Amino acid sequence: MATPTSSSTSTTNVFFLLSSLFVLLVAYSISRQSPYRETKLVLYVQDYLGGPDATCAVVGGKRGPDSSALDFGTVVVTDDLLTEGPEPESAPLGRAQGLYANSALDGKGIHMAFSLVFTGGPYNGSTLEVQGSDYYLVKAREFGVVSGTGHFRFARGYGVMETVWLDLNALRGVLKFTITVRHS
Ligand SMILES: *[C@@H]1O[C@H](CO)[C@@H](O)[C@H](O)[C@H]1NC(C)=O
Repeated sequence: MATPTSSSTSTTNVFFLLSSLFVLLVAYSISRQSPYRETKLVLYVQDYLGGPDATCAVVGGKRGPDSSALDFGTVVVTDDLLTEGPEPESAPLGRAQGLYANSALDGKGIHMAFSLVFTGGPYNGSTLEVQGSDYYLVKAREFGVVSGTGHFRFARGYGVMETVWLDLNALRGVLKFTITVRHS
């Protein structure tokens, strides 16, 4: 026979169980609804390793600072202009600042690790961290976007890089980046 005390304890237990389930259900549906926001952006990288207005410098390689960026082992520091359109005169969005390392024995692949530092446009003040492989003779290649700041906190995503034009003798080119990132 249940006493009034044990009956109220079991009512409390049932209430506690139901409210815990409710909290779990709400937490589950919130996490299912909006785990992230997604941003897609297109920008152009004015990539000049050669010429009087070069924005990249070879810092080392198998032949020291005279190494070719097209040879395995060469490390390049870059500060390339980012633009809204393919022309260098189009609206500036920021700079691609970081490193390229030629990391394919045949010289045809680059490991990229740089920041897209936005100083104009809708993401002014934010950054994205690009890390990935660039087989530059391939027309379109995919790379990883590993993190970000500002608008892009907790970012993770990918980009597709297309060569708009590339002059391997002059070591100059323009690249189109189409990036998709999920972020907080
Ligand atoms: C970018 O943001 C900085 C800092 O808020 C500001 O001074 C600058 O004018 C902005 N640039 C553009 C092009 O909006």
